[in-house]
Amino acid sequence: MENYKRREFIRMSLLTFAGISLGINSISAKALKANAYNGYLGTNPKLNWDAFLSQITSLAKVQNTNLWKEVEYMEAVKKLLLQCNFPEFENVKLAFDNYKNSRPDLFEHTLLHTEIDFQVSLFQFEKGEYIAHHDHPKMCGVINVISGEMDIKNYSFEKNEGEEVKYKNGDTTYFMQPCILKKEKSELLKAGEVSILTSTDSNIHEVMPNSFAQLVDIFTPAYNTENENATKWFSLKEHNYLGETDKVLMEYFVR
Ligand SMILES: [Fe+2]
Repeated sequence: MENYKRREFIRMSLLTFAGISLGINSISAKALKANAYNGYLGTNPKLNWDAFLSQITSLAKVQNTNLWKEVEYMEAVKKLLLQCNFPEFENVKLAFDNYKNSRPDLFEHTLLHTEIDFQVSLFQFEKGEYIAHHDHPKMCGVINVISGEMDIKNYSFEKNEGEEVKYKNGDTTYFMQPCILKKEKSELLKAGEVSILTSTDSNIHEVMPNSFAQLVDIFTPAYNTENENATKWFSLKEHNYLGETDKVLMEYFVR
């Protein structure tokens, strides 16, 4: 994955963090009142950007405690996403206005917000651009299509299959590990629809727009050195592996 820029964070003791976390709800309430005063809620009956972030912050902060329930969290984030009208948010408008297809054959990525607990990204694809099969180690994600149509396929990892295979490309040698993935779902999503992957279910996906398309996703936690380094990128070797229609043989880059 790309190395995303991150804010620098002040290291806090757990007690300090807990104290600040307890105050977030009252801060959010004040932010909402301030936004309402500024007319945001009056002109947009849906969630505004600040309220959207405040609510995710509040939901995501318990992910490292025994209060964490990933599936419930995902449903809550999905509900929040569906209350947003992203093209109306100033920062999203700006990203749309400044859009340039500056990387031929590769999607454009804008990091809308990041903090340790989660990140929000905008992806914009020209026709023919896509994101190949990859996983999200120890992360969960909700993807909301903003415009266009996308074919999103999800898989779960079953097991490695056989030994690493050595490849040569000119002077470069690299190794790929064959593996079996289980097909979980294949969805054709339209604007306003949502796809979910959890840390244990359907964690691998391929995102294939059918035309110019835009999506906003939320990943929890945000990318960090550990999950970036652990991300696997897969390439397809064989459909219907050993005659099983829900199995595919893939291989992933090892070194
Ligand atoms: Fe992904």
